[in-house]
Amino acid sequence: MKFRIFKQVPKLIFGENSIERLDELLPEKKENDYYIYVIDDYFQTESLIINFLNIDKNDHLIYFPATKKEPTTDQIDDYKKMILKKYSNKLPISVIGIGGGSSMDVAKAISVMLCNDGSSREYQGWDLPKNEGIYKVGIPTIAGSGSEASRTAVLMGKDRKFGINSDYSMFNAIILDSNLIKSVPKDQRFYSGMDCYIHCVESLEGTMINELSKGIADKALSLCTDVFTKNSKNDMLITASYLGGVSIVNSEVGICHALSYGLSLELDYRHGYANCIVFNVLHEYYGEHVNLFKKMLLDHDITLPTNVCSSLDDVAIERMVDMTLLMDRPLTNALGDNWREILTRDKIRDLYLAM
Ligand SMILES: [Fe+2]
Repeated sequence: MKFRIFKQVPKLIFGENSIERLDELLPEKKENDYYIYVIDDYFQTESLIINFLNIDKNDHLIYFPATKKEPTTDQIDDYKKMILKKYSNKLPISVIGIGGGSSMDVAKAISVMLCNDGSSREYQGWDLPKNEGIYKVGIPTIAGSGSEASRTAVLMGKDRKFGINSDYSMFNAIILDSNLIKSVPKDQRFYSGMDCYIHCVESLEGTMINELSKGIADKALSLCTDVFTKNSKNDMLITASYLGGVSIVNSEVGICHALSYGLSLELDYRHGYANCIVFNVLHEYYGEHVNLFKKMLLDHDITLPTNVCSSLDDVAIERMVDMTLLMDRPLTNALGDNWREILTRDKIRDLYLAM
């Protein structure tokens, strides 16, 4: 098999309080240069982040409402329009994304879209942007999504949830500061942490795995499992999140992600939460990993909803099935080239109805 060119974020600062070193990663400003900051709106009232940033009057600050819903293509197009208007088409010299997966994905998407014509809708897919984006820095404040390592910026469109998957969507530099994830609420820490757990399982159990990504995913899975079954150390979780992201850059996600996109599309569920609901019914595909997941649910006193599709009509369910069927690469990774014979429309519908 011909493997993908392995790409990684080229610059990384690791360690507690490393956010204080952000300046070391940013290009120096000349007159009228500016940065764009995309920050999870949780930090609008929480001074943990803002005190460390040297934001000057020329910079533009976006507080992204990450807890409300997943970022949309319309939001990205609006941000792009607004930035180009405000700065008379002068581009920023850096975009800095600080938050969970959604806020980091917004930063990535803005960076790419400021250098590529048209709507972000046109770039949802694989390797579609033609021009490199603005230099960008990612700083996770919730661990698990792996967005800090990945080559995707996932956006919700009108009828589909899809990433801008491109080398140009990768951050140029990241900061992994475990101090920033310490105040994440327990449930959110679990759902987002399980996103990492599921990345590792899907990578390891997929057909696109190789020894390199296996080595990375194995380590990420053992760290993530330790965090949720033994000792919950923030340094371990932030490392697991990053390594889980790196492993899928060099392999692919699988059935859980393919199905969770449908749930997010129709029920507005956040990514980590949707993944947990799906993974819970995937025992026939991911066996022991699902058993351990169920144990972790119990240990952390997390109760998932049941019968989640009961409020949806047949048309909505069929849209979810259609959404899943678009996920060719994850499903090829999970089940091989003949995945359509295994994961039929009926099978996908049954899985949704079992959630
Ligand atoms: Fe994910």
